[in-house]
This record gives sequence, C-alpha cells and structure tokens, in this order.
Amino acid sequence: MHSNIKLFVEADYDAMSQKAAEIFAAAVQAKPGGVFGFATGGTPVGMYRVLTQMYQSGKLDFSGLTAFNLDEYHPLKRDDAQSYYTFMQEQLFGQVNIDAAKTHIPNGEAQNPAHECEAYDKMIEDAGGIDFQILGIGANGHIGFNEPGESFSARTAYVPLTEITVQSNARFFASADEVPRHAITMGIRGIMMSRRILMLCSGEGKAAILRDALCGPITPLVPASVLQLHRDVTIVADKSAAALL
Ligand code: F6R
Repeated sequence: MHSNIKLFVEADYDAMSQKAAEIFAAAVQAKPGGVFGFATGGTPVGMYRVLTQMYQSGKLDFSGLTAFNLDEYHPLKRDDAQSYYTFMQEQLFGQVNIDAAKTHIPNGEAQNPAHECEAYDKMIEDAGGIDFQILGIGANGHIGFNEPGESFSARTAYVPLTEITVQSNARFFASADEVPRHAITMGIRGIMMSRRILMLCSGEGKAAILRDALCGPITPLVPASVLQLHRDVTIVADKSAAALL
C-alpha cells in the first residue's frame, strides 16, 4: 500500500466509529473555523453518534465549522425521509451546535442541476476549499456518487447512479423503484482538492473493493483508487473490511 495512506484497523464497527470520531474531533480542535466535508450512508452513522456525544459532554464545539456534504439524490425533496439533508439533520447537524447557515448540501430539488453544480463549486471555493473530507466507499468503489468510469477531472456534477448503487441503497427506501436514478455529487477532482481525507470502511462486503482501491491499479473503474494519488489520506477500517489488505 502507498506510504501516503495511513491505515487504522479497528476490532469492529464501534471501535472504527470511535477512532474516526477522535481523528475528526482533533481536526476540528486544530481548526475550529475549518471547512469540513461530510458523507452520508450507513458507515459514518456510528461516528456521528460519537461526535454527538462529544458535543453533549462539552468536548467538541461545532459552532465555527463550515460544512459541505458530498452529495444528494436528484430529484428528491429536501424534506423527504431519505434525502441526505434529512439524514444529516437526524444524524448530526440537528444534534450539535453547528450553524445551520454554514451547512451546505447539493439541492436535490434544483430545476437546473448543471447550474446547481457550478454554484456548489463556487461556494466551496469561496469558503477557501475543504480542509477535511469524510468519505465512505461504495461496494463498486464509488466515492461520493462518482460511479466507475466517471472522469477523474470532474468537479461537482449531475450523474446517473448505476444499478448496483440503486440496489444497494434500496435498503433505505420502500423499494428499489423509489430510489432516485440521479444525484448531484462532488466530483473526483473536487474530492482530491480537499487538504485531508478520512475514509471509513466497514464490513466484509467492502473487503475486496478496499483492497482493489488501496492496492490495485489507479483507474476510473475503481473511483476510490484515485486516493492513492492524494498526499494526506487516513483510512479507518474495521477488521472485516481490512481482511484482504
Ligand atoms: C454518501 C456517499 C457514498 C457512500 C457509499 C457507502 O454521501 O457519498 O459514496 O459513502 O455509498 O455507503 P454505505 O456507508 O452505506 O456503505
């Protein structure tokens, strides 16, 4: 594995969540007014729970933070139970003292997605770029909703979801038919412009793709493999996800 990648292997999901939360908290303490990139999905839920507890016990202050989420389904109403806006409210933003005006998530209701993408990149730029980006990894190697084959040079983009992602995310919806077929996602180039990246990875279902991403060839067919080119990546995996490394 590349030496620019720091890897922590933790015993299980809870230990992974604890470790990732500690790394995140240290970054906030080092730069309380920093710009932080957030991910949704099942993997970071435990970390968000630990961060909420840190806030409740007075150990972590979110008030200076600016937040940009990676992605949002399109089309989907902001207040839909499955929107990433709702997810972030429930899992973190609604639980801590972050300033709502400084939280940003792509607009799943945008009439003109191309325009929304440009505006999102402009907001990130105006905020000074992302200091610290949290990522998960899809079963097919996607990061954000950059599916296999997406160009490494893309900034925020309106993208189709592959069938494997639709099926995998159907667990959160009433049925696969309800999963939106598109998303607005920060692009690979945008993700790579973050100054530091923290990727969480859990479960045996991610073991093969984590190995391919970290130890295989760097290719758009495995979007997360681009992280091998980033200078400051930390991976926190549980034992089952790290089994093939
Ligand atoms: C979520 C995101 C996705 C997820 C990935 C893994 O904002 O960008 O790339 O990180 O789909 O999802 P889980 O954690 O549900 O396995």
